[in-house]
Amino acid sequence: MQKILKVSKIRTFYSMNQKQPSKNLQLSQSEMRALSNQVMDLVIEHFEDLRSLPVVQKPAIPLPTQSISEGKELLKRQREPIPYLATDIRCIVQQLEKDILNQIVHTDHPRFFAFVPSPNNFVSVMADTLVSGFNVFAGTWLVGKGAAEIERETIGWLCQLCGLPKTAGGLFVSGGSMANLTALATARHIKLNDQIDKAVVYFSDQTHSSVIRALKILGFPQHQLRSIPCDKDYRLSMKDVWNQVVYDRTQGNIPFCVIANAGTTNTGAIDPLADLADFCQAENLWLHVDGAFGAAAILTDTGKKKLTGLERADSITIDPHKWLFQPYEIGCLIVREQGTLKDTFCIMPEYLHDVNQTTEEEINYCNYGAQLTRSFRALKLWMSFKAFGVDTFSEAISWGMTLAELAEHLFQELPDWEVVSSASIGIVTFRYVPTRCSTSIDAINQQIVNQIASSGFAMLSTTVLKGHKVIRMCTINPSTTEEDILQTIIQLNDIAKSLTPSALVS
Ligand SMILES: Cc1ncc(COP(=O)(O)O)c(C=O)c1O
Repeated sequence: MQKILKVSKIRTFYSMNQKQPSKNLQLSQSEMRALSNQVMDLVIEHFEDLRSLPVVQKPAIPLPTQSISEGKELLKRQREPIPYLATDIRCIVQQLEKDILNQIVHTDHPRFFAFVPSPNNFVSVMADTLVSGFNVFAGTWLVGKGAAEIERETIGWLCQLCGLPKTAGGLFVSGGSMANLTALATARHIKLNDQIDKAVVYFSDQTHSSVIRALKILGFPQHQLRSIPCDKDYRLSMKDVWNQVVYDRTQGNIPFCVIANAGTTNTGAIDPLADLADFCQAENLWLHVDGAFGAAAILTDTGKKKLTGLERADSITIDPHKWLFQPYEIGCLIVREQGTLKDTFCIMPEYLHDVNQTTEEEINYCNYGAQLTRSFRALKLWMSFKAFGVDTFSEAISWGMTLAELAEHLFQELPDWEVVSSASIGIVTFRYVPTRCSTSIDAINQQIVNQIASSGFAMLSTTVLKGHKVIRMCTINPSTTEEDILQTIIQLNDIAKSLTPSALVS
């Protein structure tokens, strides 16, 4: 053997071919330390200084009167030629600091109330660093059993918190959209054996667009989707669902799934989960609950009461990167019967036979969802749950609900404003309705939101409820103070008055 494989032979091979590159995409120890100090300084400064920074660094929503040339400048600056040659890494980080990281809206800012805020925590940031540093592969037991074990444990905690039985399980995915897609693929498989012809699915018109997108991806044509108009409280009406299902059966359609909301994105409304669970059980329908935003409220006593029935769902979407204070991307799907995921997603290609020589306990998460190569998302939730304690999370979630109630109370006191939907698990909606005003009320409310964003002080967003544009405030950041809420409302009111001088006369 020694005689056959001689070093000289390797040398001859090299003389004809390329040698191993001298730069192997690695840094020296001192370069790594310098880079990590530079990067970590930026991150720590971000955490320390966040409150003093404008929420919106540059106008997020350019006003018609403002030039958007600054945005164009950014785009131009970004169009650099392919960097074939190396650049000093310190300069790259400086460039990021100067040109890029200041071009983001701080969704973790205490006065970011738009969409669904994403208050972050430093322990989870460090967890993500560890995950990338060790490049943990969380797809199979063979390669990442430690990761699989932590994922199983963390998913188990979420199942327990949601009140699901011991048979429950689930997995972490990129976010709520993927969790909804995974849930509906599972419902399709379990209830229909993937035969979607004439199969009908029910949800309220307040349901998140990711659900409709998921159904589209799964092949359901529009005429098999039943978007049911919500009731006055923005919830599914049991009577309407019941009528629709009965009607569909008479038409030869096959009802198979109801999608309920545990906190709509528009108003935080919670569908009648317990009644829906009874109904789905009686009608043999899959009950999926989209709690991407709101299911986290189950960690609080008030939330537990409001979410009664959640524990009876077949599947639940819950997004740790929303109200469990995690950095993007971590969504989660939990299902009542862990086996339903495996039945739906498990495929055994030849080259993965080594991987699939496992016992039931040795979970290959690649068999429970769409991703084979997947990151160790569980670590950040696991580490932060342990480091702060779940009780601290519960208090933080409770505080978010209290702040929305405070905002509702303040708007009720304020002339010319009306509360459109009461505070519901951290979301309140309202609108400015001056008595005398020549401009459209919808347009004024949009202007108010645009102007407060461009002032940098706070950011809120609009939505449309029953045909009217309203302003939405989502108050789930635990660093938000009562004073933040008060000052934001004062500013909204000042902007509103400045936009409608004629209303001042009234
Ligand atoms: C209720 C609800 N479902 C699903 C989603 C989609 O989640 P993601 O953006 O993480 O994909 C959202 C996002 O805001 C949501 O509020």
